[in-house]
Amino acid sequence: MVVNEIKSRVFYVGVRDWDRRLFDDLIPLPDGTSYNAYLIKGSEKTALIDSVDPPKSAELMTNLERLKVESIDYLVCNHTEQDHSGAIPDVLEKYPGAKVVANQKCKGLLKDHLLIPEEKFITVEDGETISLGDKTLEFVMTPWVHWPETMCTYLREDKILFSCDFFGSHLAGSDLFVQNEPKVIEDAKRYYAEIMMPFRGIIKKNIEKIEPLDFEIIAPSHGPLYDKPGIIVNAYKEWIADKVENVVLIPYVSMHGSTEAMVFFLIEKLMEKGITVKPFNLTRTDLGELAMSLVDAATIVLGTPTVLTGPHPAAVYAVTLVNALRPKLKFATIIGSYGWGGKTVEIIKNNMTNLKVELLDPVLVKGVPKEEDFKALEKLAEKIAAKHKELKI
Ligand code: FEO
Repeated sequence: MVVNEIKSRVFYVGVRDWDRRLFDDLIPLPDGTSYNAYLIKGSEKTALIDSVDPPKSAELMTNLERLKVESIDYLVCNHTEQDHSGAIPDVLEKYPGAKVVANQKCKGLLKDHLLIPEEKFITVEDGETISLGDKTLEFVMTPWVHWPETMCTYLREDKILFSCDFFGSHLAGSDLFVQNEPKVIEDAKRYYAEIMMPFRGIIKKNIEKIEPLDFEIIAPSHGPLYDKPGIIVNAYKEWIADKVENVVLIPYVSMHGSTEAMVFFLIEKLMEKGITVKPFNLTRTDLGELAMSLVDAATIVLGTPTVLTGPHPAAVYAVTLVNALRPKLKFATIIGSYGWGGKTVEIIKNNMTNLKVELLDPVLVKGVPKEEDFKALEKLAEKIAAKHKELKI
């Protein structure tokens, strides 16, 4: 591992996880990830900002040894999730004089998740500061990015905002600072879509809260650091804005080809109307790609056959995910084929209760799609185009 000095006596001591391909046993990581931790040596005290995922604890310790860190006074925990807090017990064992600096909520969660004893904590409130001598840490509560206890730490003299997951990206690159801007923004968008999107409203408030801080660097806990913070702050503003794009997403699965034929026909009809269409074959798609597309799309059409009496399990999985991510979709519907009957539409509708969408008439077909069914799909394409036009997109 490499230890970098970001500013005078402010060091990157985190770890890249080049080979990790799945997060939370759920989220695909095409570019790996990193767990960023930072060591700040003040004239009087030393602070460590966050730690790393437990399997990478030894690498964090090696980085601290490289810097000849003999004592740590404060171990700031911006967020309880174990990819940042998991190595705290190891740090406390090696540096027994260290105190864990956390807000009240975070302290409670750390006790639950890592069994850290009460006497190890210093709790901080919104706006409180801790002096390291010639450097000052200021704590800014930014809840729900993406847990209730999340906060940022601002290093006043060096104008660095340590934002933890907020503004992060799952990207295990060798660059400390953003070099390939489009690539990082794409990975940050994927990251936003997967864990931040359900909290759009509160993210807006958090951005308004941090913006008055005079930061020159955003140092998140995943992915490269931003020395032009405007690029990621503006990207977030765009992603959380109410505006949607002229895009229809069609996650689908097909058993005997009928639903697929309907999907492909609808794609053509939508394309003829100048609409961007993104199909996702649910038997092989990267769900992160679907999540990322949900950030801006206006409409979703779920394509599913009926299995026994309900939707295909792959479609249920997808709609459960979409519902949990609460994207700003405006319209939704369902198309597909069934054998003899079932409650597919009802079941899917019951799994979409978080979505504030207008439900357009579904097109469900018994057996193979026939002439009248294709006509119904054509009408659906016309309806979607008209609805998008009303939105002026
Ligand atoms: Fe990177 Fe919410 O943990």
